[in-house]
Amino acid sequence: MPITMAALIVDAEYLKEIDKARRELRALIAKKNCAPIMLRLAWHDAGTYDAESKTGGPNGSIRNEAEYSHGANSGLKIALDLCEDVKTKHPKISYADLYQLAGVVAVEVTGGPDISFVPGRKDSNACTDEGRLPDANQGSKHLKDVFHRMGLSDKDIVALSGAHTLGMAHPERSGFDGQWTQDPLKELLKEDESDGLLKLSTDKSLLEAPEFRQYVELYAKFVTLLPNSSQQDEDVFFRDYAESHKKLSELGFTPT
Ligand code: HEM
Repeated sequence: MPITMAALIVDAEYLKEIDKARRELRALIAKKNCAPIMLRLAWHDAGTYDAESKTGGPNGSIRNEAEYSHGANSGLKIALDLCEDVKTKHPKISYADLYQLAGVVAVEVTGGPDISFVPGRKDSNACTDEGRLPDANQGSKHLKDVFHRMGLSDKDIVALSGAHTLGMAHPERSGFDGQWTQDPLKELLKEDESDGLLKLSTDKSLLEAPEFRQYVELYAKFVTLLPNSSQQDEDVFFRDYAESHKKLSELGFTPT
């Protein structure tokens, strides 16, 4: 029984297109080495969600200039253009699904956990006003304001911050420079400024609020494969990251 929506029917043919697009995204991300920016695109499309007004979210609106030209989205046109190549071959697939699929594939191909992906998001042209995504210069209250507005929890904030394992900051995009590390949550706990690694104010704030810190400490044990970390520990982070990522990718969307 196909799931019918206003402009999108998730039937066997759509699912076949999704499978093909997934394979193409895998190849594209490997070839262009663009996992970080694809993941950032998925997050920035989804992260505008406002649970109260039910506006924003993973609805493909970031493809519109009115939204991708927001300061927070600087540089993401590169990822939009890369996704456009896949969209041209699979026009049936909504942009909203395509960007979230790209985010899921980016995590998988770089050795992260498998994240369950359910298609069916509809596209919207309604761009949210600038300012819904987090400002890296702020602290824990701001992070809570922004993520709780989306309907996400303190645990989601910390788990998703593990995404900074991938990629780096580019001065010409965000004004920040440098990269996090293979183990951003573990490095945070060192509280050592001299290592040259990037720590945004928001990163540091994850240590301030006890509600965040408990998860930083938990995940830090196994974000890296420390000799004494058990496989079970890694499973906890992978499981929580995959759960939080799925929530992020489905804000305002009820798969049926
Ligand atoms: C990069 C801020 C959460 C994924 C960045 C950059 C900043 C930033 C300033 C550098 C951008 C550039 O110069 O290219 C923040 C803040 C967050 C946050 C303040 C609040 C917690 C997230 C989340 C995800 C994510 C939830 C994904 C689940 C990424 C990735 C990059 C990145 C993959 C690297 C992009 C690249 O290398 O091109 N983030 N971020 N971030 N962010 Fe975040």
